[in-house]
Amino acid sequence: MHKNIDRILYSEKELSELTDRIASDIGRDYKDKEPFLIPILKGSVLFFADLVRKIPLDCRFDFMAAKSYGSGTTSSGNVVITKDITADISGIDVILVEDILDTGNTLFYIKNYLQKYKPASVKVCTLFDKPSRRKKDIDIKADYSGAKVDDLFIVGYGLDYDEKYRNLPYIGVLKQHIHEKEKE
Ligand code: IMP
Ligand code: MG
Repeated sequence: MHKNIDRILYSEKELSELTDRIASDIGRDYKDKEPFLIPILKGSVLFFADLVRKIPLDCRFDFMAAKSYGSGTTSSGNVVITKDITADISGIDVILVEDILDTGNTLFYIKNYLQKYKPASVKVCTLFDKPSRRKKDIDIKADYSGAKVDDLFIVGYGLDYDEKYRNLPYIGVLKQHIHEKEKE
């Protein structure tokens, strides 16, 4: 285990099981359809790569990236799209793929932003959900969610702290003193 990780929350095997379940739920709900997946860079790429290979449907995808300016471990309401899709999604069923739904700022903004392209539908798929952190005035929910997590800062499997730890194959809880440093 990495020296800055306190404990493992989801092993590789458990992550694979979460992904299996989401993929089969999507397969069932979009039967005879061709959903268009939009992973939000960069946190969702590892999850997305596993998920898309397990969805038993024809699906296309394109990437988006967003920044929300805040301090190291929380996002602010100021979301900026730093990479937009280039594909035409008008009349298409879209699924946004995110690593973690926290305050809800990022996905709320992106979901509304995409309306200008006139998709047939937009659903939200997130590997993790921290419902206790959701901002009251933000109306966003996960249509597909792997697991709910407490208000802990987790890293690995795409999720970062200061751009690090994304390549850990498991989800771990970062040692408190590592992300407390910024507050000192
Ligand atoms: P939101 O806009 O507050 O919902 O934040 C969503 C983004 O915050 C995610 O895409 C992550 O990049 C980041 N984030 C929130 N919680 C965590 C965490 O526990 N670990 C790593 N990144 C997180
Ligand atoms: Mg992210």
